Amino acid sequence: MEKHLEAYFPPGTDEGRLLLRVDFDRLPRHIAVIMDGNGRWAAGRGLPRVEGHRAGVESVHEIVEASARLGLGCLTLFAFSSENWKRPRYEVGRLWRLLREKLIKDDGLLVKNDLRLRVIGRREGIPGPALRELERVEALTRENQRMTVVFALNYGGRDEIVDAARRIVAEKRIPAAKLDEKAFAAHLTTAGLPDPDLLIRTGGEMRVSNFLLWQIAYAEIVVTPVLWPDFRRRHLLEAILEYQGRERRFGDVRPPAKPSRGRT
Ligand code: IPE
Ligand code: IPE
Ligand code: MG
Repeated sequence: MEKHLEAYFPPGTDEGRLLLRVDFDRLPRHIAVIMDGNGRWAAGRGLPRVEGHRAGVESVHEIVEASARLGLGCLTLFAFSSENWKRPRYEVGRLWRLLREKLIKDDGLLVKNDLRLRVIGRREGIPGPALRELERVEALTRENQRMTVVFALNYGGRDEIVDAARRIVAEKRIPAAKLDEKAFAAHLTTAGLPDPDLLIRTGGEMRVSNFLLWQIAYAEIVVTPVLWPDFRRRHLLEAILEYQGRERRFGDVRPPAKPSRGRT
């Protein structure tokens, strides 16, 4: 086992033991995560909801770093949905401030690990100071190669599909009969990224909540009751192992001859 992995998943620990079972030839290329349960985590401790969001930032750091070390190509994190504006103003304000100050301004995690930041979601709705930071870090990390970290911010799957349709109509380049899945997907904000092979939802809810509706067509779904602030690298390994135990048939009667890593 490679040294950089041993240091992060030490032998003899839970994560070290789980790591031994991972098949590195069949890693998901892209994992998408619905980071849910921050409010419940805080309520369980008698704390205000925003403390759950603060604690959730630690999980983001750990999971980004663990994913990069494992060798994933892409990690997408659902951080703020197009519906989350319905929350109390105070919570919304604190969420954006946390995102700006702890995740984006602190670009060391991305720079140190050679990670590229990409943002999906309607940019025009993102508060100015956060958007400026996001675009600065996107530009700063544009050439980074190791893994792409996608933040879904002010993101809704239906918005994204509508926006793609609008662009296609406005461009007037593709005649209706020529519009196929590939051409459509090229107009989504995830253009160029592989579809997620694995969708993880923390916090136990059995729903998609308007996340990546197009892209998860054939994703394997793992829902864990673990609340996002409690989600640690060992839970990530457990989800990957569950994914590797699944049989992906893509509509056929048996899996594709060569183990598929999902469609791009
Ligand atoms: C997820 O945690 C974080 C965001 C939606 C930003 P929640 O805040 O939804 O936590 P619960 O679901 O209320 O516990
Ligand atoms: C989904 O969680 C959105 C994010 C994790 C950013 P929500 O807490 O908003 O979803 P619902 O309301 O339970 O469906
Ligand atoms: Mg929630």
